[in-house]
Amino acid sequence: MSDRTITVVDDLAGAAAARIAATVRAGGHIALSGGSTPRSAHERVAREGLDWSGTQLWFGDDRAVGPEHEHSNYLMARESLLDRIGGAAPQVHRIKGELGHHAAAAEYERELNTACGAGGLPRMDLVLLGLGPDAHTASLFEGDDALEERERLAVGVDTPGMAPHVSRVTLTLPVLNAARDVVFMISGEDKAEAVARAFGDAPDPSAPAGLIRPDPGNLWVLLDASAASLMGNGA
Ligand code: 6PG
Repeated sequence: MSDRTITVVDDLAGAAAARIAATVRAGGHIALSGGSTPRSAHERVAREGLDWSGTQLWFGDDRAVGPEHEHSNYLMARESLLDRIGGAAPQVHRIKGELGHHAAAAEYERELNTACGAGGLPRMDLVLLGLGPDAHTASLFEGDDALEERERLAVGVDTPGMAPHVSRVTLTLPVLNAARDVVFMISGEDKAEAVARAFGDAPDPSAPAGLIRPDPGNLWVLLDASAASLMGNGA
């Protein structure tokens, strides 16, 4: 039975770090989110001295750039998490954006099938997601073909709907919705409208993030008060 929990938290980074730490302790597959919000949660969980040797890290999406590029989500994760984990390191599956978005998506799919069992739908134990002001998540943007993809595990995105305007690689909805736990980390007044569109009492069907409905997995929406400011008392 899938479950959805929307929670306003005072310590968003701490709440998200706790979810990450629980999965690391159990061992499993974690798909990290891009953007800037996850940085503080990464730094918090990196300080917990966990043994990451049973963890495989993936990325929900990345920009089609090399690992040292300023827009690389991998670089953000390396700086805020990977370089800070003291003990046993996780296995990291980087999206090889330098190949170009379509080739990188195909390579990522091959890696997903190898690591998670070919043919089946990879079931991440934890998927971390952010939310754009336009209600996009990962690199799934309103009106883009990637949002409609139901067969492939990962696809290239030619023209993202938001900056940075570089082509992307993203996991598709079937993979995101197959996860055991999906956790959104959302902060700031600029996300309030998107939060209401995606998770409010009368959700907007055109909001990509509103299509994240893991089943039978669980959805956790962690918000700070600013991001929740346009939600009714349901948050
Ligand atoms: C990306 C992310 C994207 C991000 C949101 C929120 O590659 O940019 O995956 O979906 O999570 O745009 O970004 P911020 O956390 O920077 O607001």
